[in-house]
Order: sequence, then structure tokens, then C-alpha cells
Amino acid sequence: MALQLGDEAPDFTADSTEGEIHFHEYIGDGWGVLFSHPAAFTPVCTTELGRVAALTPEFDQRNTRVVGLSVDGLTDHATWSDDIEEVTGHRLNFPLVADPDHQVADLYGMIHPNASDTMTVRSVFVVGPDKKVKLTLTYPAATGRDFSEILRVIDSLQLTAKHKVATPVNWKNGEDVIIAGSVSDDDAKKQYPQGWKSPKPYIRIVPQPKA
Ligand code: BEZ
Repeated sequence: MALQLGDEAPDFTADSTEGEIHFHEYIGDGWGVLFSHPAAFTPVCTTELGRVAALTPEFDQRNTRVVGLSVDGLTDHATWSDDIEEVTGHRLNFPLVADPDHQVADLYGMIHPNASDTMTVRSVFVVGPDKKVKLTLTYPAATGRDFSEILRVIDSLQLTAKHKVATPVNWKNGEDVIIAGSVSDDDAKKQYPQGWKSPKPYIRIVPQPKA
């Protein structure tokens, strides 16, 4: 069965562009993003990897380590890394797992046979410090992802893990949030003595709590 939210993210040991990687150990006490690519030397993947390399300071700020995966060998990855830098101006600065035997891809269900028997789809798994899956995304090979959205989601996941709130449509860090439905009005009054905006009784909007 496909990995679902709340499942333990399977641990693995694999070769990567930064040497052997032990996934859980690599994430440590922080957050992790594991994302797959259909194949080396492909145009969309090249742009995506350059973009993630450019965004690593943003992931660092969120105490999040990123790991890419492609079902090609390490030799391909080494040559491809040079291409990625040449094309995007950003050198890979995170591990790219080489998974030619599909060991990790199978663990995570990254190959969807009705899309392709051999290539992974564009999967994203966000993993929390408890090593549980917090978010999954699946894009087809021909559609590149927007990694700003992954950062936005991590902001929401980290906020809602800490505070009993939910984030509305298109929410961005710093914007108003919604008090979780599990919080009674009496408890909410203690936490938000200034009150809340309430366009409907079941919608209670407050400023984002401080980290
Ligand atoms: C790409 O990365 O451009 C790509 C890879 C596999 C299939 C289609 C596009």
C-alpha cells in the first residue's frame, strides 16, 4: 500500500553524490524532504535540481535537509551535476541518491507502472523530526514542481505542529491563521484574550502565533 500521512518514512542506506547516506540519521532531529526525479540528463529535472540548490539556505532556515533521488548510477550523477551547475548557475549542495536498483524508489512507491515502468514520478515526501510522513506530492514527469510551495507547506507544517491552528488558502508565513476546531471557545479566549475575527461561528481568525 502507498505510504500515507502519519506513516513512518522508511529508513534506508544508499549511495549518493555526498557519499553513503543513512536517511533517518541524515535528517537527525530536524525535518526532511525526499524528492525523486524521473531520470538523469533530462531537462525538467535539471531545472528542478538547480532550483533546490539555490533554495538550500531557505531549507536550512527551516531546519530541513533535502535529499534528491534518481534511478541512475553515481557516475551519471557526477557528470549531470556539472551540467546542472552550467545550466542553472547552482551546483548541487545536497545529496542526490543513486538508486539504479529501485531499492528506495520501491520503498516509497515512487514508480507508478501506469506512468512508466522504469522512471520514478516526481514524488515529494516531507518528513517530520518524528520520522513520520507529513506531506506527499506526486507530479508527472512532464510537470516541474514549484519548490517555493514546498517551503510554504513546511512553514505551515512546522507552525501547526507547534500551535493548535490551521492555515487558510494561499497562506504565507506571517499571515493570519485559523484557530483549530478542536479548541473550544473558552480555551481560545484564554489563549487569544484579544479575541478573533469570526465571519462564521466556525471560522476564528487570529494573527499568527509567535514561534
Ligand atoms: C524531464 O525532466 O524533462 C523529463 C523527464 C522524463 C520525462 C519527461 C520529461
